[in-house]
Amino acid sequence: EIQEEPKGLAEAFTIGEKFIGQDKVALVLGDNIFYGNGLGSLLRSKVDVQGAAIFAYPVKDPERYGVVEFDEHKKALSIEEKPQNPKSQYAVPGLYFYDNKVVEYAKKVKPSGRGEKEISSINQMYLEAGMLEVGVMTRGMSWFDTGTVESLDDATEFIRVIQNRQSAMIGCIEEIALERNFINEKALAPLAEKYGKSKYGSYLKDIANHF
Ligand code: G1P
Repeated sequence: EIQEEPKGLAEAFTIGEKFIGQDKVALVLGDNIFYGNGLGSLLRSKVDVQGAAIFAYPVKDPERYGVVEFDEHKKALSIEEKPQNPKSQYAVPGLYFYDNKVVEYAKKVKPSGRGEKEISSINQMYLEAGMLEVGVMTRGMSWFDTGTVESLDDATEFIRVIQNRQSAMIGCIEEIALERNFINEKALAPLAEKYGKSKYGSYLKDIANHF
């Protein structure tokens, strides 16, 4: 489905209402990149969420993001979208898990000052209902929002350096599918073929040959 006008992330759940049906749902923003040890198991641990599960990540420019305020026991007190005076350094990354109530909440969201139906308003509703879980992502996790030229450039450099150094690709879905047993090495060969002589194709062929 396509959102014809940029009217805010909360619309994902009204535009996607039929797709969601009676299920729980996760949303990941296309310009967000996550990389870190244990990411897969972290995501799998949230699939069965009751209420909502979001994350918090310390950054130096929280005013660019949704910001979560915590009390001294790391209990979330508020979620604000791009506040001029952020109540903490903790930004909310673009990775969200919700139960089916999110569709109903999304319908109630009113546009913000910037004219968008904010995902932060949905998170605030879950918070007020006592159903919001906020997990702090620690230094072991890398998170990039690539919404500006500079940040896209930063992420590109990061991925390039790690991939070169480790001779392993980040986010290679065919490799992940093989490791998770969604496909076997026989199924990998034709997938690799599709990419011909490209670097990506050779990488996949190498994996298929050495699995
Ligand atoms: C959006 C969300 C914000 C979140 C950010 C993460 O911001 O509104 O809450 O922290 O993504 O990347 P936007 O991309 O609309 O500036």
